[in-house]
Amino acid sequence: MKVQFTETVLRDANQSLIATRLPFEKFEKILPVMDKAGYYSVECWGGATFDSCLRFLNEDPWERLHKIKAAMPNTKLQMLLRGQNLLGYKHYPDDVVRKFVELSVKGGIDILRIFDALNDLRNLEVAVDETVKNGAHASIAISYTTSPVHTLKKFAALAKDMQKMGAGSICIKDMAGVMSPKEAYDLVGAIKDAVNLPVVLHTHCTTGLAFMTALKAVEAGADVIDTATSCFSGGTSQPATETLVYALKQLGYEVNIDEKVMNEVNAFFKPIRDEYLASGLLDPKVMATDTQALNYKIPGGMLSNLISQLKMQNAIGRLEEVLVETPRVREDLGYPPLVTPMSQMVGVQAVNNVLQGERYKIIGKEVKAYCRGEYGKAPGKINEELMKKALGDEKPVTCRFADTLEPEFEKTKASLTGVAKNDEDVLSYIAFPQIAEKFFAARKAAEEKVVKYTIENIEEEK
Ligand code: CO
Repeated sequence: MKVQFTETVLRDANQSLIATRLPFEKFEKILPVMDKAGYYSVECWGGATFDSCLRFLNEDPWERLHKIKAAMPNTKLQMLLRGQNLLGYKHYPDDVVRKFVELSVKGGIDILRIFDALNDLRNLEVAVDETVKNGAHASIAISYTTSPVHTLKKFAALAKDMQKMGAGSICIKDMAGVMSPKEAYDLVGAIKDAVNLPVVLHTHCTTGLAFMTALKAVEAGADVIDTATSCFSGGTSQPATETLVYALKQLGYEVNIDEKVMNEVNAFFKPIRDEYLASGLLDPKVMATDTQALNYKIPGGMLSNLISQLKMQNAIGRLEEVLVETPRVREDLGYPPLVTPMSQMVGVQAVNNVLQGERYKIIGKEVKAYCRGEYGKAPGKINEELMKKALGDEKPVTCRFADTLEPEFEKTKASLTGVAKNDEDVLSYIAFPQIAEKFFAARKAAEEKVVKYTIENIEEEK
């Protein structure tokens, strides 16, 4: 049996440990080395990397992608895409989704991991279709969660539908790191029985389960696991590449990773890790194990949000009540997976329900939009009373929400004449308007400075 590895140091590990602050020039030199490691793929792009490039690093995310591709031509580059939400949390019209996928593939992405927070396949179909059309690999991801409506049978049926849609592989995406070894074993087995596709496992070390979960997933037939070079592994990041290579090889699995290269990659990133530790950007706490998510069935990130929300309202004493209310709100909403933006929606509503002394006295506007069907279909049934309170006489949307949106790309492009240099710029603007605007202005100012400098030089020479 062969096991392959997706290295996440450039995307998820970077995002989970150091808030995606790794600038291109810091890892540029190691790319030609990484290109020889024998990874199944290198995950290097996604919503947070894109946002951070524009917002904090003054980098064009598209240029970063093109440079990574040029430096590692033999390795498949992978990105994370939120289906119809692209890099954010709102739905975009189909023309924008298609353009984004097309230019991502042209720019160097080989594998698009596409997911939807609610596992509503209607939110994935256009992105998947365009991926396949452009000759890239659509790895369709299941947002993993547990609830009475999330059964092995349903997950297997979902994987079957994903195969029909054109998936090149099925990824089990456990963004909260709560999937247990047993759950992974059972789920990978069920999906392997249902479809004829490679299965990829993505999890996080947060609760300490990830190494065992990865091992049991492999035992059940998982073909690819997501790991991070060891100095950027553990805690809220992925399990370590080197550790799993060592253990799986010894168990007799075929592992085609060049260990010398793999160790060189880690030696390169170690001083970078130490630098971020020294600067405080990397908090040792996020590298540790935190089992609270297992006790409360709430992802770690959501729990810290709840605590800070309550502290801000001087109500930290009500935490226990909020922790009891949170699963009730989730049940009322039809058991959505607790991932962004659902985790925030459920958390804020639970806090309001407790602090107002009456359930659903105030209903957040996002919860109302969710009840209207603007995020897609709820996995289970939404509580009828809540529906009545949230919608009043309004009718919920029953169609695919993106069908209600007008095309946007050409209109936006026309409005950016003289500002956007190319279609990639237009997409950066559509994804993050204010941040992109600032980035474009800074880029223009820098270019003008260069021109001025050159002219002055010429004049001096005369
Ligand atoms: Co992740």
